[in-house]
Amino acid sequence: MSARSADWYKDAVIYEVRVRSFFDANDDGKGDLRGLTSKLDYLKDLGVTALWLLPICPSPMRDDGYDISDYRNVHPDVGTLEDFRIMLDAAHERGMRVIMELVLNHTSDQHPWFQRARSAQRGHPDRDWYVWSDDPKRYKGARVVFKDFEKSNWTWDEQAGAHYWHRFYHHQPDLNFDHPTVREAMLAVVDHWFGLGVDGLRLDAVPYLYEREGTDCENLPETHEFLRQLRARVDALWPGRMLLAEANQWPEDAVKYFGKGDECHMAFHFPLMPRLFMAMRLEERRPITEILARTPDIPTNCQWALFLRNHDELTLEMVTADERDYLWKEYAKDPQARLNMGIRRRLAPLLDNDRRRIELMSSLLFSLPGTPVLYYGDEIGMGDDLNLGDRNGVRTPMQWTPGPNAGFSSVDASKLLLPLVGDPAYHWQTVNVSVQHANESSLLHWTRRLLHLRARHPAFGRGSTVFVDAGTYHALAFVREHEGDRVLVVCNLSRYTRPLTLDLARWKGAVPVELFGRVKFPPIKGGGYPLTLGPRGFCWFALETA
Ligand code: BGC
Repeated sequence: MSARSADWYKDAVIYEVRVRSFFDANDDGKGDLRGLTSKLDYLKDLGVTALWLLPICPSPMRDDGYDISDYRNVHPDVGTLEDFRIMLDAAHERGMRVIMELVLNHTSDQHPWFQRARSAQRGHPDRDWYVWSDDPKRYKGARVVFKDFEKSNWTWDEQAGAHYWHRFYHHQPDLNFDHPTVREAMLAVVDHWFGLGVDGLRLDAVPYLYEREGTDCENLPETHEFLRQLRARVDALWPGRMLLAEANQWPEDAVKYFGKGDECHMAFHFPLMPRLFMAMRLEERRPITEILARTPDIPTNCQWALFLRNHDELTLEMVTADERDYLWKEYAKDPQARLNMGIRRRLAPLLDNDRRRIELMSSLLFSLPGTPVLYYGDEIGMGDDLNLGDRNGVRTPMQWTPGPNAGFSSVDASKLLLPLVGDPAYHWQTVNVSVQHANESSLLHWTRRLLHLRARHPAFGRGSTVFVDAGTYHALAFVREHEGDRVLVVCNLSRYTRPLTLDLARWKGAVPVELFGRVKFPPIKGGGYPLTLGPRGFCWFALETA
C-alpha cells in the first residue's frame, strides 16, 4: 500500500458496508469477509477509498453485532481472523483503508466480563467492570435512547442482586469507565486491531462512557480525558491511524470530540444530516446554511464525516420539536417507518425514488465540507423493507444481479439472513449492480462519475468554504478552495427552473468550467453572474484562471 499520509481521511470516500449483507462466498445465506474481498474491485472502481465495516466480532447478534462477546475475534458467520487479514491485505493492495467498529461503551451481557462481574461479590474488582446500583432512580437525567424498546436505563440482575446500567438495549450493559482496568482493556483492544493493520476505528456511542449524578451523562469531561489518553497512545504507537467519533450531538458538543486536535480525527456531523432532508422538502437553503454557520471551526488536523443514510434510523434527535414534527410528517407518512426518535428508511425511498433529488442530495454529500460516507446499496438506489423489525429493513442483502438471490448468495432463498427487497419499485431484478453496470445512464454510473470527479479536486476534501449569494433562498452556492484548486458548487433546491445571479465578484477573471462535461462558461466579469438551473439541478465548476 502507498505510503501512509497522516491525514488520508481528509481525501477519503468512505463506504459503509454490512459484511453480512454484502456478498456470501460460502453459500450459507450470510455475507462474509471472503465475499467482501471478492467485491473489492467493484468498490475500487466505484471510487471508494476506505471501507467502514459494521461489527464483525463474535456476538449473540441481538443488536446486529453492537453487542460484542469477544473483542479480539471474528464472528464465525463472517469468517475467521485469517479471512480478515486477507481482506485487509487485499484492500491495502488496492489503496483502500479499512475502518472498524470500536464498541467501547458497552458489551453483550454474554461477554465473559459481564458473566464474571455479575457473579462477583460486592466490592470485588471484577464486579466493578460494570455499573451497578440498588437504586434504579440514579442518573435520572439520562435519556433512554431506544425508547421504543426500553423503559429505563437500569435492569435488575437476579444473579448480581442489583440493577445494572445500560444506555441501549438491556442486554448491552455499559462498561464502567471509572474502573482503570476497563480503560486498559479497551486500550488493549485498540492495540489489537491497529496491530493487525486496521486504519481507523469508529468509536460507537462515545458520548456515554461515564455517568455522573445531576447531568445527562453525555459528553462529560471524563470522557474527553479518556479520549485524550487514547489519542496520545494512537499518536505514539499507531501514527497515521484514525479515530472517528459517533457522537449524535449538537455542533457545539460534537466539535468537542476533536478536542484541540488531540482527541478524535473525525466526527460525524449528525445535525447536518436531517437538515439536508429538510432543505430538500422546503426547497430552500436555510436549514443547511444555518447549521453550518452554527458549527464552530475545527482544528486543522480534523475532519467532519458527512452522511445521508446509514445502518440506523434517520435520527431526529438533533432537530427542534417543530422540525421533528415536520420531518416526520414529510418523510414518514407511514407510521411503520418511525422508530425511536427517527425514520427507518433508505435514501431512495425517502426521496420518492426521484433521480433528480437523489443526485442533488448526493451532490451535496460529496461537496460540502467533510468526508462523505456512502451507505452500501445507495449507489444503486436500493429500497428497504418496512415489514422487517427494528432497523433490519435497511440492512437487506446487496443486490448484485437479476439472477437467484440477486447474486448475493447461492443458498436456498428461505435461508437468506434477510429477505431481498421485493417491492416492485425497488425490486432486486431491476435494481442491481449488473443491470446498472450495463446501462451508462444508471445511477451507479452517475455515482461513479461523481466520485471520480471529486477525486480530481483536493478542494472538496480539504478546501475552505465560502457561501455565495445566489439571489434566491431556493439556491445554495459555495466555493471550496485549497492551494489554488477552486471549485464552485451551485444547487437549485426548488422543483422549478430558476434564474440565479451569483455574487462571484471575489473571483473576477476566473473561468467556470463545468466538471462533468469540461464545458467552459463565460468568464466572471465581477458582480452578478447569471446562471439558470433546471428543477433540482446542480452544477460543479472548476474556477480556472483565464
Ligand atoms: C450504532 C447502533 C447501535 C448502538 C448501540 C449505535 O450508535 O450505530 O446501530 O444499535 O450504537 O451499540
